[in-house]
Amino acid sequence: MRIYFAPLEGLTDAIYRRVHHATFGGVAKYFMPFISPSSSLSFTSRQQSDIDPRENAGVPAVPQILCKDAGLFLEMAKLLRDAGYTEVNLNLGCPSGTVTAKGKGAGMLKAPDALARFLDEIYAKSPLPVSLKTRCGYESIDEWPRLLDVFLCYPVHEWILHPRTYREFYGGTPHRDLFLEAAQKAPFPVIFNGDLFRAAECREMSRFDLMLGRGLAVNPALAQETQGGDRLTIESLRLFHDRLYREYLKWWPEHAVVGRMHGVMYYLMQALDCPAPAKRALRKSSGVDEYADAACRVFADSVLLQDICFTPPKH
Ligand SMILES: Cc1cc2nc3c(=O)[nH]c(=O)nc-3n(C[C@H](O)[C@H](O)[C@H](O)COP(=O)(O)O)c2cc1C
Repeated sequence: MRIYFAPLEGLTDAIYRRVHHATFGGVAKYFMPFISPSSSLSFTSRQQSDIDPRENAGVPAVPQILCKDAGLFLEMAKLLRDAGYTEVNLNLGCPSGTVTAKGKGAGMLKAPDALARFLDEIYAKSPLPVSLKTRCGYESIDEWPRLLDVFLCYPVHEWILHPRTYREFYGGTPHRDLFLEAAQKAPFPVIFNGDLFRAAECREMSRFDLMLGRGLAVNPALAQETQGGDRLTIESLRLFHDRLYREYLKWWPEHAVVGRMHGVMYYLMQALDCPAPAKRALRKSSGVDEYADAACRVFADSVLLQDICFTPPKH
């Protein structure tokens, strides 16, 4: 079994991936959050630094493209090849409204014939092997047989399947039966993704390669623990946090660091049994010094939960 770190936009940037890789083991590949190329192929400074090979040195990172224009995809794939990357991932699963409204991400699953034309072109011409990250339908799983037929036509490098429809978003449970059907029929590797939050759950699926997202964001030792390595400790969690904080401080403006660390802590706090006053102080902290004091108090006052698991936010 190989374990991949799922792309989590707004969290798993180059700094996060580097620090995770230096602190914990068990991740065979880190998939980068999507890059959505503009027609001029110009990038924001964040995007630029995320894909800069120097920022990813020593980390097995795979870039991901979100795009519905085959020509643009191919131009982007060439740039990535020239930068030294050896594979590229296509995002066909993002359910965000702003993305699907433009017919990208999971929006491409709505029109299987147009999707097939797009895939015809990119698989004929891509300078790099292309892996796919998809859901199993747009409105309903009734669309699955047609989509499966489409995907099976191509020399897919790897197929990461999060077996939920666009409509299901992150609700309900993933359709494991559809994943099993795909894994049985596909002549290429099919990787399972969705709701694996504990090492025991990952091991149950160990005959497959897995991609983990929110489970690893809460328990950064999940991949190594699943494969027989060390379990998370409060010390390793704190080390990870402190290294991340120092790296962000080195490269980012202070206000951006605090914002990002609150995002990181949204997940890490789910591994901790933390007294309410320390939690409150962390939530209210704004400047870097206030944040650092509050985080210090969280780690001093908390114990690690016995059963660490991601819990979705209540709506
Ligand atoms: C905050 C957030 C950001 C995400 N960003 C991306 C992304 O950039 N590209 C992508 O393919 N999937 C993205 N996803 C989906 C995850 O990669 C993954 O498929 C999903 O979280 C299900 O896996 P999990 O249950 O292991 O978390 C994102 C999910 C979350 C929660």
